[in-house]
Order: sequence, then structure tokens, then C-alpha cells
Amino acid sequence: ALWRHLAPSAQRVNQNVYKNLQPQASYKVAVLGAAGGIGQPLSLLIKMSPLISTLNLYDIANVKGVAADISHCNTPSKVQAFTGPSELANALKDVDVVVIPAGVPRKPGMTRDDLFNINAGIVKTLVEAVADNCPDAFIHIISNPVNSTVPIAAEVLKQKGVFDPKKLFGVTTLDVVRANTFVAEKKNLKLIDVDVPVVGGHAGITILPLLSKTQPSVSFTDEEVQALTVRIQNAGTEVVEAKAGAGSATLSMAYAAARFVESSLRALDGDSDVYECTFVQSDLTELPFFASRVKLGRKGIEAFVTSDLQGLTEYEEKALEALKPELKASIEKGIAFTQKPS
Ligand code: NAI
Repeated sequence: ALWRHLAPSAQRVNQNVYKNLQPQASYKVAVLGAAGGIGQPLSLLIKMSPLISTLNLYDIANVKGVAADISHCNTPSKVQAFTGPSELANALKDVDVVVIPAGVPRKPGMTRDDLFNINAGIVKTLVEAVADNCPDAFIHIISNPVNSTVPIAAEVLKQKGVFDPKKLFGVTTLDVVRANTFVAEKKNLKLIDVDVPVVGGHAGITILPLLSKTQPSVSFTDEEVQALTVRIQNAGTEVVEAKAGAGSATLSMAYAAARFVESSLRALDGDSDVYECTFVQSDLTELPFFASRVKLGRKGIEAFVTSDLQGLTEYEEKALEALKPELKASIEKGIAFTQKPS
């Protein structure tokens, strides 16, 4: 559906065909950090969604031009710019989905955790505003370290008395996108068919692709499993190094985040067949937050896909146990941050 708007004239020719298929544009989406490396292409991609009526672009600087530029695309949504904290509340009014890619990205040699000191505060401030202005919205956290920023967001929402664990999501879609791409390349499969669930968290060894659960069913040698797992875990670093100081993944990230927005909107719109992997509050393991495949519905998470974690290979079982201490520490670091007096 996202792409149908790429060819509006072709669409006009086929108007009769599309008339009944065309969904009503009715949802409001806000992007916080919209002028950034991820924010700009993400905003452009979601401008193509026929499900969006209003697209609010917020940043602390440079967002006016981005909004003016994107607003000229002849797709349904109305684009509005909001600059700086004094305009944040208005950017969030009546919004259904809030996407947060605000914050600093990695440079070569940095881990995602190195971003903690700056991004933790940014996410805290932005989520406080979300709690005050659109507490019912789906919240998509992209800002790293996701393993800590999602627990921070949860604590902030709890402190404000509006936490709904079914509607707070750490965006790990890029790990799935990468896993699908690398597996399809390696196994010579048609990309569009491949689906690999990725569980755990969103940093280094906490990213655990469950290759044994790949659809369509495909077998890997031990060497392939090892090489693919490590490549998927380090794919972000591959981009950071290739960009050599000019930032981290922005374009593939925007693509992945746009997919997650579109999935959320389809779920809000009543589609009963929407599944995504995402880092959320979870009972699947002993950890309070965990990324896994979930079913999305009008009220957020409708169900956890528990079968992905059953019948794991020995390699996956070991990797799952090995990631837990790091993920636990990152979650606790996030929670501790929100309990410090500010
Ligand atoms: P960027 O530096 O290009 O853009 C960040 C934007 O955030 C800038 O426009 C900046 O003005 C804005 N910003 C800073 N403080 C803000 C505030 N308080 N309120 C609103 N906006 C604010 O960075 P980029 O490359 O877009 O990355 C953004 C974040 O996404 C980083 O934390 C990065 O680590 C993370 N990321 C997450 C991925 C994931 O898979 N979840 C993948 C890649 C990056």
C-alpha cells in the first residue's frame, strides 16, 4: 500500500480498480527528530502512506525546510513543521503514532551504549511530552541504545500514570530487514519471500536472529549460522565504518521504520494479520523487556508469538542465554537513569 502512491497518475487511470481498495487517510503521525539522517527519509517514506491524514514533523532545528519540501509530494497527508520545545505539545496533539529517531548516532569505534548519556535525556524529555499530550498513541523508539531507551520510556510513562505496555515499542525492524536480506543473498532465495524472526535486544550479541525459524524453511551449515549471525549482529557497525564518521544507518533504518509505522497503521485500521518483531515489555523470558515477534491490533500488542522461542537449536539456546546478562544490564541502566533526581 505504501508504494501505490509512487505512481499517482497510473493510479488515476486505474481509479475504478482502486476506488474500493483505497483506504481512508485518517491517522495522525508525529516524527520527533524529523530533520535528522533517519528523520528525513523516514518522513518522506511515510508521506506515501495512504493511511495518514496528518504528518507532524518535529525537531529542535532545520525542520521547516524538510516539511516544506516533503509537503509538495502529492500524497494525501498534510505536513506540518514544529520547531523546538515550545511547539512540541502542539506537534503531539491527537497523534495516533509517535516515532522517535531524535538523538546522536554512532561514530566509528563507538558502541550504542556510548550514546547513552545524551540520548537517555532526549528520550526522557520527549516521552514526558508524549505522556502529557497523546498518552494513547503507539510509541516507536528508534533512538539508541534501544535496550535502555525503551525501559526509560516505560518508566517515564509509569511516573506519569499512563504506561500501556501494549503500545510502547523499541524499533528492531532493521535487524529483521537485514537478516532477511543477508539470508536471501546467501541462500539464493527470492527476497520478498524470506522472513527471519530476530529476538533479544538491539545491540551486538543481544541481537539474536533465529535462523532455524526462517521462512521458507531452509537449512544452514554450522559455519553459515555462525557467519550470518555475526554479520546480522554487526551490520550496524558495517555501515558506521563505511560512513567513516558521517553517522550510522539512516536510509535502511528509515525503510525499516516506515515498515513498522505502516504495520502499526494497518493494525490500527483493523487489519488482523499484522506481525512484527519489536523490543517490548515481555513475559517470554525472565527479562522485563525482550524483542520478539508480536501480533499487532487496534490496541497495540494483541499476542506474543511464543512458538518462535520453542524448539531452538543448541546454538540459539546458548546465544539466548549468553545475551541475557548484557540485556539485563542495559535495561537496568535505563531504569536507574529515570530514578536519579533530575
Ligand atoms: P542525526 O544526528 O542525523 O539526527 C538526529 C536528529 O535528532 C537531528 O535532526 C537533531 O536535531 C534531532 N534532535 C536532537 N535532540 C533532539 C530533541 N531533544 N528533540 C528533537 N529532536 C532532537 O542522527 P540519526 O542518524 O538520524 O540517528 C538518530 C538515532 O537513531 C540515533 O540515536 C541512532 O543511534 C539511532 N538509530 C537506531 C537504529 C535502530 O535500529 N533502532 C538504527 C540506526 C540508528
